[in-house]
Amino acid sequence: MSDLQGLRAWITGASSGIGEATAKLLAEQGAEVIVSARRKERLSELAKQIGESKVVVKPVNVTDRAAMEALGSELESLGGIDILVNNAGIMPLAPMLEGRVDEWEQMIDVNLKGLLYAIRAVLPGMASRKRGHILNLGSVAGRVTFPGSAVYCGTKFGVRAISDALRKEALHYGVRVTDIEPGAVATELHESIGHQGSREAVTGEGGFYAPGADILQPQDIAQAILYAVSQPKRVAVNEVLVRPFIQEM
Ligand SMILES: NC(=O)c1ccc[n+]([C@@H]2O[C@H](COP(=O)([O-])OP(=O)(O)OC[C@H]3O[C@@H](n4cnc5c(N)ncnc54)[C@H](OP(=O)(O)O)[C@@H]3O)[C@@H](O)[C@H]2O)c1
Repeated sequence: MSDLQGLRAWITGASSGIGEATAKLLAEQGAEVIVSARRKERLSELAKQIGESKVVVKPVNVTDRAAMEALGSELESLGGIDILVNNAGIMPLAPMLEGRVDEWEQMIDVNLKGLLYAIRAVLPGMASRKRGHILNLGSVAGRVTFPGSAVYCGTKFGVRAISDALRKEALHYGVRVTDIEPGAVATELHESIGHQGSREAVTGEGGFYAPGADILQPQDIAQAILYAVSQPKRVAVNEVLVRPFIQEM
């Protein structure tokens, strides 16, 4: 414990999966954690598990630009954020021919616009203090494409581009940027798939998320995030790609 003592970390999408595991691990390592998502009960339960004194629960919908701006100001008044884990995301997969335009927009709103609103909320404060670390949750799907994943991949390729361009700017004012790129992780993410065929393809036999598939656990990605934030000042971990051993693509 305690490399992260005195640091304040904001984790979006902390009500389940990778965000929840990361909040627990960073708190265990001594950070104060701010946890956000829409499901307040899940955040309150998480706060109980971590220990209320080390957690601040701040429910927010990352697509609500005004609410994200207001939360950014509030977090700044608490003393500012040292580590942003920009994690909230959805993955309603479907073939493009299905034309599920509402889902395309939701993915763009959460995975890209929500991620940008969170960056906007912390970046000026980090720049003024000349320190801070932004970790964006990209994906293997930000490097390779899969049929049925065109828009999801589009958002994650976007996360990779945003992370790399921001890195080139932010090194001039002391802020680190990391794109965390998991392969398949056992979380609730596939529950956002409304298209039955796509859901069956990933949760049925041979699918990434089939019952019993030996894929990553959320703690595996939390460990990658801890690795990135625990490096000495001279080291910048800019991309971390972690696949389950059995995942080919
Ligand atoms: N699981 C994988 O295989 C995998 C692989 C590569 C990358 N990723 C990425 O990892 C990140 C975390 O996903 P996960 O796998 O941990 O899935 P998860 O368990 O479904 O977690 C997603 C989190 O995002 C939050 N969220 C969704 N929409 C939101 C909104 N509008 N406003 C605020 N929070 C919102 C959810 O909370 P609420 O519903 O309570 O709002 C939840 O806490 C995502 O960016 C995902 O794309 C996952």
